[in-house]
Amino acid sequence: VLNLRVDLKKEVDDSYDILIGNGFIAEKIAGYRDKGALFLVDSNVMRLYPSFFKDIDCFVMETSENAKDMESLIEIMSYIKEKGARRDAELVVVGGGITGDVGGFAASAYMRGIKFIQIPTTLLSMVDSSVGGKVAVNFGGAKNNVGAFYQPETVLIDMDFLNTLTDEEYLNGFAEVVKYAFIFDEEFLEYLVDNKEKIIARDMDILSSIVHKCCSIKADVVRQDEKEDGIRKLLNFGHTIGHGIESDSEFGVKHGMAVATGMYIETVIAFKLGHADEKTVSRVEEVLELFGYDKEYNIKNKEVFAAALGADKKASKSGITLALTPKIGTGKIISDIPLKELENLLF
Ligand code: GLY
Repeated sequence: VLNLRVDLKKEVDDSYDILIGNGFIAEKIAGYRDKGALFLVDSNVMRLYPSFFKDIDCFVMETSENAKDMESLIEIMSYIKEKGARRDAELVVVGGGITGDVGGFAASAYMRGIKFIQIPTTLLSMVDSSVGGKVAVNFGGAKNNVGAFYQPETVLIDMDFLNTLTDEEYLNGFAEVVKYAFIFDEEFLEYLVDNKEKIIARDMDILSSIVHKCCSIKADVVRQDEKEDGIRKLLNFGHTIGHGIESDSEFGVKHGMAVATGMYIETVIAFKLGHADEKTVSRVEEVLELFGYDKEYNIKNKEVFAAALGADKKASKSGITLALTPKIGTGKIISDIPLKELENLLF
């Protein structure tokens, strides 16, 4: 037997900068236009900010969670190909989490990877999905189950985009902000609670510090665990049940809203499994209610809900893995919970 070793031990530097500011994006977009970059733009952004894209040939994507699929991926790839993109092409993705996830995945796969730049325009994508390189589409009814870890060249966050978000979309993104506080930082949670009125009023100073804080936490987590073998799993607090809610509602409940309800239900599960005390359950409940999230969800189809839990990427043969918050500010991973046991707690 001949043994030839393919030695691939490597040191990779995929580091990148996240720029956070106000009113700087038009100039950045023009700069990428002048360099001949390709543009993928969320249709809502195009409708609200047409002047940014004057003279730019963009691929405009209608966004809904149902559109985050293989078909959209193929359409984007076809556009990139039609434009004659080569390996040195750059794709600028302007939009929310859906555009970023599908666009990033297209960039990761086209010619085995072209550069991509994230310009997140929703609170959810600014504080979470644009940072960390998770790119994916939904496949076969399961959420984000075909994708890659593929880091952007840079993330450009222009806070001014937040002024045109609907209240629903704003609240949707804020759920991920609360998530960081629950799992990592009790002081941050108190800051959010104390500044509720200003947050609701979209005070730019407060929002800038919130976005900065969330991106710092996320960058630190990703630095330690890019491929989600450990600490990064904590960022999925609320997401396992949240994905169940998204699937069961056929994506009628938006991601952040589903995660908010998921955080409450998962904390109740943590309590029932003996990992959290009543005080934590009450605090999670209070904070979610304060910001107007639903803590209950009526499951329509138990099979669909259970299938989503089983399809969760953290699940293994031995059972479901949950990222829980046993104590405010301290997340914990609990693995190997049999699906049946979880179903008994839920249904
Ligand atoms: N949205 C969770 C993560 O990026 O790991």
